[in-house]
Amino acid sequence: MATAMTDTNFADGSIDAPTPCLVVDEAALNHNLRTMSAALPGARLRPHVKAFKCTALAARLTEHGHHHFTCATLAEMAGLIRAGLATDLLLANETLDEVKLRDVVALAAGSNQPARITVAVDSAETIKVAAAAGVAEVLIDVNVGLPRCGCAPEYAGALAEQARSAGLSVRGVMGYEGHLMMVEERAERMDKVASAMELLQAASTAVGGEVISAGGTGTFDTNSIATEIQAGSFTLMDTQYSTLDLPFQQALWVEATVISVNRAGGWIVADCGLKSLGMDHGDPTWSGGDLWFCSDEHVTLAPADMDAWTVGDRVRLAPAHVDPTVAKHERMWLVSEEVTPGSPRAITEWPVDLRHW
Ligand SMILES: Cc1ncc(COP(=O)(O)O)c(C=O)c1O
Repeated sequence: MATAMTDTNFADGSIDAPTPCLVVDEAALNHNLRTMSAALPGARLRPHVKAFKCTALAARLTEHGHHHFTCATLAEMAGLIRAGLATDLLLANETLDEVKLRDVVALAAGSNQPARITVAVDSAETIKVAAAAGVAEVLIDVNVGLPRCGCAPEYAGALAEQARSAGLSVRGVMGYEGHLMMVEERAERMDKVASAMELLQAASTAVGGEVISAGGTGTFDTNSIATEIQAGSFTLMDTQYSTLDLPFQQALWVEATVISVNRAGGWIVADCGLKSLGMDHGDPTWSGGDLWFCSDEHVTLAPADMDAWTVGDRVRLAPAHVDPTVAKHERMWLVSEEVTPGSPRAITEWPVDLRHW
C-alpha cells in the first residue's frame, strides 16, 4: 500500500525521485474521481484497474463509493484480493489458465471478506475452464463491433445455456465497444454506441440475468443500456483521451532529467524514451516546446526558450496512452494537493503492484 517517502519537492514542481518516473497530480486525480463518481455513483461504475494497476489508487476509488472492479488479468484480481479491496471482481477477459484461475478463486474464498468472482466467457472452452477452476459466476461476453473477444450476439443465449449446464450461474452479459471510444463527434459517438448497445440488449434478453457491463472512458456518459461502466483511464488520463470532449484532467506525467544540452543545435535530451512510455498512441506531449523524437532511453526536445535549460533540469511529459505507460513502471509518485500555494507538498510512493499477468 502507499508509503509516504518525503515531504519535499523542487521549487519548479519536480520531485526528488530517480528518473524516469511516474508523477501523479493529486488535485487532477481527485477532480477526475469526483467528476466520475458524480456521473456514475457506486456500482454504476466498475472501474477498470488495468489503466492504473495500483491498489493504492483502487483504494481511492473505494473512498468514492466504487467497490466493484474490472480486471484484465488474473494478477490484477489476485492483487486486489490480497489488498482487501475485492468485493465483486469481474475478469472482463477470456482465460484458459485453469491453474491461476483456481488460485484466484481459492484466494477470494479464503480472504476475510470473501469476494464475488465473475469471469467473462465467449466459448465452450472458456466455460469449461471456468467450471473446472471452481468459478461460480460468469458473464457472457458479446461482440458488439470491436474485432476482439465476444461471441456473436445471436449465439449468446445458447452459450448461457451451456454455462448453466456446466453448473455456472450467469449474471448477464458484457460487450465492450472499444472501437467507439475515440469517435470524435459526440453525437456520432452516441449514435454508434446506441447501435452497439442494441446488440447487447438483445443478447441480454436472450441470456437473462441483471448485469449489462460495457463502456469505457470515451463512452462513460453515452450509454443508457449498460447497468455498469468499465472505465479506468479517466483516473489518470492521457493525451489521446484529452482530444475528446471529456470532463477529466491530465493527472499522470513521466518526469525525466535533462542529461544533455545542445545549445548550438537548439535541443535538449532527457532520460526517458520508448522504454518508459507507452507509445502505441503516438508521442508524448511536452508543454515547454517541440518534441522531436523518442528513442529507447532518450527524448529529444526543442525548447521554446533554449536559454532556460541546463543539464540536471527536470521535464514532464504527458503520455499518449496511460495503460502501457503505467505498466512499464514499478511505482508512481503522488504529489499531494497544494494546500498553501508555494508550500512543500507531500510526495507519496504508490507501488504499481498489479503489474504483469
Ligand atoms: C474490456 C474493457 N472494458 C473497458 C475498457 C475501458 O477502458 P478505458 O477507461 O481505457 O476506456 C477497456 C479498455 O481497453 C477494456 O478492454
